[in-house]
Amino acid sequence: MRVYDIISKKRDGFSLSQEEIQFLIEGYVKGSIPDYQIAAWLMAVFFQGMEEEELINLTRQMVLSGDTIDLSGIEGIKVDKHSTGGVGDKTTLILGPIVAAGGVPVAKMSGRGLGHTGGTIDKLEAIPGFRVELTKEQFVGQVNKIKLAVVSQSGNIVPADKKLYALRDVTATVNSIPLIASSVMSKKIAAGADAIVLDVKTGSGAFINELAEAVQLAQLMVKIGKGFNRKTIALITNMDQPLGQAVGNALEVKEAILTLKGQGPDDLTGLCLELAAHMFVLAQKVSSIEEGISLAEELLNTSKALDKFREFIHAQGGDIKVIDDFSLFPSSQYRVSVCSKEDGYVESIAAQEIGKAAMVLGAGRSKKEDKIDLGAGIIVKKKIGDFVQKGEALAEVHYNDQGKAQEAVTLIEKAYSISSQKVSKPPLIYQTIAD
Ligand code: URA
Repeated sequence: MRVYDIISKKRDGFSLSQEEIQFLIEGYVKGSIPDYQIAAWLMAVFFQGMEEEELINLTRQMVLSGDTIDLSGIEGIKVDKHSTGGVGDKTTLILGPIVAAGGVPVAKMSGRGLGHTGGTIDKLEAIPGFRVELTKEQFVGQVNKIKLAVVSQSGNIVPADKKLYALRDVTATVNSIPLIASSVMSKKIAAGADAIVLDVKTGSGAFINELAEAVQLAQLMVKIGKGFNRKTIALITNMDQPLGQAVGNALEVKEAILTLKGQGPDDLTGLCLELAAHMFVLAQKVSSIEEGISLAEELLNTSKALDKFREFIHAQGGDIKVIDDFSLFPSSQYRVSVCSKEDGYVESIAAQEIGKAAMVLGAGRSKKEDKIDLGAGIIVKKKIGDFVQKGEALAEVHYNDQGKAQEAVTLIEKAYSISSQKVSKPPLIYQTIAD
């Protein structure tokens, strides 16, 4: 087999066989196929797409490139949740405790943030003492004991994705639907859950901006899940503005705690209830979404989810005093408001620019090696549809590095557009896709 022939076959729009995919991925991971040939194949996939069977073969080969997690030591149906990435998305911190408080085991591996999107692991590290690394025995033991553990994706899980993603990042091939689908699903399948709820984000802060493409991505991921016998459901959700108000690590954990106390923003609370309901259905805890939402609401209202969060933080070495004393979180020395230059209604917020502004402040990384400022970030004060007066704050910037604040302020100013006409609030969930 020659890599050249495989690249030209894909370039001309043909589907690759299982053997050809295996040859490419194995060769790339072991280093016998160079970056430039894989980059050419990625670009061919970007333009020509992939057939369903070819995509399932690619996903399987990616899973086989590394270790898989065996969760069979955990009792019950394990349901995982994955978001395709957004700005201010702290749902795992709220959902995990709700679902676990409902008796469903949540054994979650999460990632760090890169670029304009954040990552759960960085957020959890804003809690003093919190350990994001557990041995396999500790991980399984903790889930069996308290139903919830969240750890950093470590070890040798899908090494093919690590290499491919890094190459996609520098060859303008990240935004390819089959490549995103195989990247996300290979990691979910390797992580061992029985069922998967996908939160596919669409809009200005997501990898996929167009609704129709998000639907296509969701359909493909659901098909891949089915191909691996994992019950999979996808919600297509709005990322045309940050989720909730807080963007930045400690700020987002504080907002998650407020949400667990029943004082969270409506969009964040609503999305968590809906995702939790789908997880309850897949875990066969309830038989309908309505029942799942009622159960999730009850767990929030009775503080059972908050108690579970406390238990979870304690189990992973975190200081539970932060839950009632926010001054114990890393914070920022300075604050500045970004004010509206006119009266009107917020028409749109370029969420990606808000994510970039947070990154500039140090809340995220532009390169993997960057160190994060856990206290820095942005509080989005006005969301789409809100009325704002001239001089009133649209957002508040929290920062430690005085050299960075102005760039962030400029990005936020540009991100907002204000209309003199009334603007309606965008929907939170567009569609649900099941097989
Ligand atoms: N998230 C992933 O894990 N992979 C992608 O390709 C895009 C988003």
